[in-house]
Amino acid sequence: MALSPQWLDELRARVTLSAVVQRTTKLQRAGREWKACCPFHNEKSPSFTVSDEKGFYHCFGCGAHGDVIRWMTDQRGLAFMDAVKELAAEAGMEVPAPDPRAAQRAEQQAGLHEVMQAAQDWFRASLDTPAGTKARDYLASRKFDAHTMERFGFGYAPNARNGVANSLKQFDRAMLIEAGLLIAVDDKEPYDRFRDRLTIPIHDPRGRVIGFAARILDADKKDAPKYINSPDTPLFDKGRTLFNLHRAGPASRKSGRMVVVEGQMDAVAMAAAGFEEAVAPMGTALTETQLGLLWRMVDAPILCFDGDNAGQRAAIRAIGRALPLLAPGKTLSIVGLPPGLDPDDLIKRQGAKAMEALLSEPASLIDTLWRFERDSAPLRTPEDKAGLKARLIAHCDAIQHSDIKSLYRRELLEKFSEFAFPPRAPREKRDWKSGFAKPAKPLLDPAVAGRLRKSADGGSRDTLAGAVIAGLLRFPDQILVHAEPLGRFAAGDGRNGPALESLIEAAELLEPGEETPICTPQGFAPPPDKSRFAFLDEGADPQGAREDLAEAVSLLVERPALDAALAAATARFETDPEAAFAEQQRLLKRKLAFEKRLGLMASRRAARAAQPEIDLSVADPGAQDETRK
Ligand code: UTP
Ligand code: MN
Repeated sequence: MALSPQWLDELRARVTLSAVVQRTTKLQRAGREWKACCPFHNEKSPSFTVSDEKGFYHCFGCGAHGDVIRWMTDQRGLAFMDAVKELAAEAGMEVPAPDPRAAQRAEQQAGLHEVMQAAQDWFRASLDTPAGTKARDYLASRKFDAHTMERFGFGYAPNARNGVANSLKQFDRAMLIEAGLLIAVDDKEPYDRFRDRLTIPIHDPRGRVIGFAARILDADKKDAPKYINSPDTPLFDKGRTLFNLHRAGPASRKSGRMVVVEGQMDAVAMAAAGFEEAVAPMGTALTETQLGLLWRMVDAPILCFDGDNAGQRAAIRAIGRALPLLAPGKTLSIVGLPPGLDPDDLIKRQGAKAMEALLSEPASLIDTLWRFERDSAPLRTPEDKAGLKARLIAHCDAIQHSDIKSLYRRELLEKFSEFAFPPRAPREKRDWKSGFAKPAKPLLDPAVAGRLRKSADGGSRDTLAGAVIAGLLRFPDQILVHAEPLGRFAAGDGRNGPALESLIEAAELLEPGEETPICTPQGFAPPPDKSRFAFLDEGADPQGAREDLAEAVSLLVERPALDAALAAATARFETDPEAAFAEQQRLLKRKLAFEKRLGLMASRRAARAAQPEIDLSVADPGAQDETRK
C-alpha cells in the first residue's frame, strides 16, 4: 500500500497527539506541552513529554520518542497499517488504495520539477530582454526594490503561442502540458498558457517551483483576468499550497507570528516592508489543509483581509472553515484593514508602522464572529433576536471540540443576552429590595437539569463509572478538564454515556461540592463501595482528590479500548494464531497493570482512612422533595 508522505503528514496534522496519548496515559499540562510519568518505563517523577506543536512525544528518561503513529505501534502495540487505519478513521480520512504506479508517479514528479525550474529560468531571463521592458516598467511602477524582485523571482512570459516549446526543447510536449505550461485543447496545436504577463513563481514548502501566478500588464485589457494561476498539476494543488510558505514558515518561527493576506502581491509587499511571515492562498477561500499548514507554524495565524465587503466575507468564510477544527490553543486572529485598502496599499500609503500597529492588535475569532452576526441583520423584533441566536448557536454546533464548543456557546449567548436585552439596572435593584432573593449564580437551565435527572436515573452503573460521575459532581471544574476523553468515552458507552454527556453539557453551571437539584440519592448516587475512591472522601485534600479523579477518568476511558483490543486479538486467532497469541499476552499484561492501578486507588484511599469517615452522600432530602415531584 502506498501512503505518500503528504498523506501521512495530513494524518498527523489532523490527529491531536495529546488527545490520543491521554486515552491511556494521564497527562498534565506543562506550559505549551504535556508531561507524565513515562508509559514506556517505570518511574516516579515525570520525564515523559508530549508536544502537540511538534507532533512528538519524548521521554528524557528512557529515550522513547515518536509521533502519533509511533505511539500507536509502540505503546498500543498495533501493526503500522492498523495504527494508520485506526487514526485515519478517527481523522475522517480515507486510507488510499494500493497504488502500483506510485513509484512511476514519483519519477514523473521529479521530471516535472525540472520542467518548472527550467520555465522559471526562462521567464526570469525574458524579463531582461527588450520584450520584457513593459514588465520591468510595471515592476518599477509598483516600487519593489531590487532585492525583493530578485528574491521573489519575478519574470516575464513573452507574448507568444509557442515560446515555451521553443525554449524548453529538452522536454517532451506531453510533459510541458502536464506541467500546466501549455494548454492543449482537442486537436488544436498546444499553446502557451502564460502570454505577455508578469510571472511570479509559486514554491512548495521545500522551495521548489511548482506553479506560477501571472499578472496582466495592460490595464486596459478589461476582458482578460487580472491574474492567471497554474492549473492543478501533479505538483501543484492550489488548495494545499500557500504562496511564500517556504520563506514565511522559517520567518514565523522567529517572530512567532504568521499572517495570511489575500493576494500574492500583498505577500510580496509585506516581505518588502519587513514582514517576512506572510502567505497568500491562490485566490480561493482558505481550505482545511491550508489552515492545518498554518497551525503547524503558529497557534493563532492572523488573517489580514481587505477592508471591503469581499474581504470581510473571505474572513468569515475562513472562520467557518476553522470552527470545526478549533483545538485547545488553536485559533485564528483577524485584522480588518481600512475600507478600500489591501495590505500593499496600506503599506504604501501609511507605512510599515501602520501595518505593525494593526497586526499587534488583532481581533479574536469569537469577537469577529459575534460582530459579524450582530451587524448582519437588524434586531428589532423577537423574530430578529431569535434569528441571531439561532445563527450563533449554529456556529457553536459547528465546533467539534466539546470544551471549546461549550465555551463558545456560553460566551456568545452572554454577548447575545447583553445585546438583545440590555440590563435596566435601577429597576432591577428595586426588585431585589422588594423581597426577592438575588440568585448567587446562574440557575441551572430547567431543560438541562431535566436531562441530567433523567440520565441519572439511567439504571445500574458500574462502580468505576459511578465513582467518576460522583467525583465530577463534587469537582465540576474537572468536567471540562476531562471533557474530551469523557465525551469520546460517552459516545461509545450506552450505559454511562447519557449521564456523562449531560454532565459535560451542564459543566459550567454546576458549582463545586454543591447540592444541585440533581444530586439525589436516586440520581447520581455514589457507588455503594465508594470507600474505594479517595476522591469521594470529604476529608480528602482537594488537590489530591482531583488527581485521583483524573486517574479514575483515565482508567474509565482506557477500559473499553483495552477490552476491544483483547476481543480483536481473540478474533484474530483463526487467521494468525501466533501474532494473536503474542498480542493477547501483551494485552493481558496491560489488563493486569490496569487492575493494579485500580487497586492502587483503593490502597491510597486506605492510607488516608486515618481520618474519620464522613457520609458523603451528596443528597439533601430537602432538595429532593423540591425537585423530584
Ligand atoms: P486582488 O484583485 O485583490 O489582487 O486579488 P491584488 O493582490 O491586489 O493584486 P494587485 O495588487 O492588483 O496586483 C487577490 C488574489 O486573487 C486572485 C489572485 O491570487 C490575487 O492575488 N485573483 C485575482 C485571481 O486568481 N484572478 C483574478 O483575476 C484576480
Ligand atoms: Mn493590490
